[in-house]
Amino acid sequence: MVFDDYMEMCLYDPEDGFFSAGPVRSGKKADFVTSPELSWAFALCVGNWAEANRPSNDCALIEIGAGSGSLMANVRDVWESTSGQIYAVERSSAAREALRRRFIDVNVVGSLDEIPRGIDAVVIANEVLDNIPAALAIRMEHGWFEIAVGLHDDELGLAQVPAREEVVAWCDSIFDEVEEGVIVSVQLGVDRWISELVEHLGSVAICFIDYGDESKKLLANDVESVVRSYRQHRQGIDWLRVPGECDITVDVNFTGVLAALRRAGLAARLSNQRAFCLEYGIVEVIADARDREHFAASLGNVMDQLRVRSERLDYEALVDPNGLGAFKVLLVEP
Ligand SMILES: C[S@@+](CC[C@H](N)C(=O)[O-])C[C@H]1O[C@@H](n2cnc3c(N)ncnc32)[C@H](O)[C@@H]1O
Repeated sequence: MVFDDYMEMCLYDPEDGFFSAGPVRSGKKADFVTSPELSWAFALCVGNWAEANRPSNDCALIEIGAGSGSLMANVRDVWESTSGQIYAVERSSAAREALRRRFIDVNVVGSLDEIPRGIDAVVIANEVLDNIPAALAIRMEHGWFEIAVGLHDDELGLAQVPAREEVVAWCDSIFDEVEEGVIVSVQLGVDRWISELVEHLGSVAICFIDYGDESKKLLANDVESVVRSYRQHRQGIDWLRVPGECDITVDVNFTGVLAALRRAGLAARLSNQRAFCLEYGIVEVIADARDREHFAASLGNVMDQLRVRSERLDYEALVDPNGLGAFKVLLVEP
């Protein structure tokens, strides 16, 4: 089974997939913490950007992969109400249920097909592209091979198989010369998904936030450096031993995402979460927290001071250049 099929099955099998069948996975008490789960201030920045970049006055707001709804909840506070609808798109049924319980004015849907075609929209997605199934390819002396998952003595293991034509074409178009032995992820799923998204909607503004890099920084020598796995806040789960029981992700190849958007007729700019949040509102939030912290200290109110400091540390974590601040932000702006 090629790796993208394995990833699809592990994450989205209707009965056993980590996302489709399990509970809501993002959150402090769940499997991993994302920026909107860490602090509301992240959504404030995304909301400020969304408000500033509406492609039309009554456009829709669409969040893809909305998870528990933490990003949507706070973006909505900034989003000026118009006749445009708000949509949360989620492949996970547990997340869809949670979103329906949390919001009465958000249309919660399982796929883009349930959103009217041709509408203008601001589209936001945090840590979703890395969960769209990708293939794995390895460069050999005479060209690209694929890494597939197979059964050997009743145990799942990895094997090299001849690469599909589209995998070779993707690698050749995204990577310059690479050395023998280099392993890369191949975002055929992201390509398809972007072309469907752009074809489905009218004028769009897009904000994708994720970990990953440009193609030249994504050349690995082992599968463990390409594929990441998470469960209950632990990283490095043996994903071949426990299919469907852990998150499987790959670093997003933003050279590939930019190329897919270009093919769909959209120009994008690549920034990072630190620069994005500094531009869209975090500076004021951190300054306000500092003032409140000093005020609490001046009153000798130690508990308040500690509480506000912990809040401030969360805000600062969003822009930490060695942590979440290094995440990439890809923006299509009208
Ligand atoms: C890592 S979680 C991030 C959740 C949330 N965006 C956050 O930042 O906390 C990825 C989510 O994207 C959803 N997802 C992945 N691919 C999707 C797609 N094509 N359409 C809708 N949801 C998708 C998964 O079900 C999962 O809930």
